[in-house]
Amino acid sequence: MANFDVEAARSKFPALKEDQVFLDNAGGSQVLGSVVEAISDWLIKSNVQFGGGYKVSKASSSRYNDGVTAGAKFLNAQKDEIAYGSTATQLLRNLSFTFQFQEGDEIVLSAIDHEANIAPWKDLAERLKLVIKWWVPQEGSTNPKLLPEDLKNLLSAKTRLVTCTHASNILGTIHDVKAIAEVVHTIPNALLLVDGVSYAPHRPIDVKELGVDFYVLSWYKIFGPHVSMLYGSRKAQEQMRTLGHFFNPSATLENKITLGSCCYELVQSIPAVTEYLGPPQAGSWGALHSQETQLQAALLEYLNSKPNITIYGERGADEKLRLPTISFTVDGLDSRELVETLERTTNFGFRWGAFYSVYLVNEYFKLGPSGVVRVSMAHYNTLEEIKGLIEALDSVISKTT
Ligand SMILES: Cc1ncc(COP(=O)(O)O)c(C=O)c1O
Repeated sequence: MANFDVEAARSKFPALKEDQVFLDNAGGSQVLGSVVEAISDWLIKSNVQFGGGYKVSKASSSRYNDGVTAGAKFLNAQKDEIAYGSTATQLLRNLSFTFQFQEGDEIVLSAIDHEANIAPWKDLAERLKLVIKWWVPQEGSTNPKLLPEDLKNLLSAKTRLVTCTHASNILGTIHDVKAIAEVVHTIPNALLLVDGVSYAPHRPIDVKELGVDFYVLSWYKIFGPHVSMLYGSRKAQEQMRTLGHFFNPSATLENKITLGSCCYELVQSIPAVTEYLGPPQAGSWGALHSQETQLQAALLEYLNSKPNITIYGERGADEKLRLPTISFTVDGLDSRELVETLERTTNFGFRWGAFYSVYLVNEYFKLGPSGVVRVSMAHYNTLEEIKGLIEALDSVISKTT
């Protein structure tokens, strides 16, 4: 197991000096100080439009370009295969307006995804008169998984698009995206779109190795600023029309999908994030996993020890199977009430609800409006914080048994 100096990592995040334990990281992570500095530096020294011949304009283009290069490298993609945008929700909505499928074509939608990866496709189906096939994991499980075997039964020669999550923002279960991509690509021209928003803060991603056609993530969950990024392979882009102005180029994904100019100061700060995380093999990734695995093992051990707690997702802490995003309910205790009770008396920042995964939480699990309690950890959380949370949870939960 790689050594991880959690205090050294924490010192790089200015917000971690605050009197708050951040356990809503799947909602949004804390930001690196180096990112804050890069944005501030840009706004002071480089805040002009690109394309001018004057010195600052040239320097700005070059800094933005470094942000694009860093984003592409993060996913092992080419620069013309990525586009930045304000949010993943926005990028997927834009993408949905680029496809020109035919009436009667079929799309397969995961029923356990965040709404950002459902709504645009339902809308597309309505606009183009497509047939939706829902990919629903076996009923009645508290650990639903999107399995390639189930997907096979949903595909046909008419399938044009399959959508799924790499890891749900509720469950943290890691899906075998490579195996899913192989199944999708048995159908000529079928595209696989993966929502990597929850997965990306925890594991390195190689879109070529995974064999996906589209992959979306949000940097504000990966220790960076509030900007998101879509990957689209060159081949997949052949099935897109451009949303850009008629007189502008349309060769790259950015040309096709980033409307206007997106968030220069944020994009150019991305190298600060990728530098912190380092390359997949030589960087900090291995150490981050081991820290996260330790944290999730501690919390899961406690939750598993309570007979009146239901864990949604993997019950074990195996890092190959799950991420440190852990959701649960307590029999006889409303999720909202549990969270609000501890908010009044402690500094633990965690949440209750459906977290925009409404089909999963309210229809598949049939949970009421308070949904689940979600504790979503990041590598900068400490074991002491998690032990403190367990103690706080137990002070309320033990009264219900
Ligand atoms: C799994 C997942 N997908 C998509 C999104 C939407 O991301 P964005 O806020 O960038 O639109 C979120 C946000 O919480 C998410 O957790």
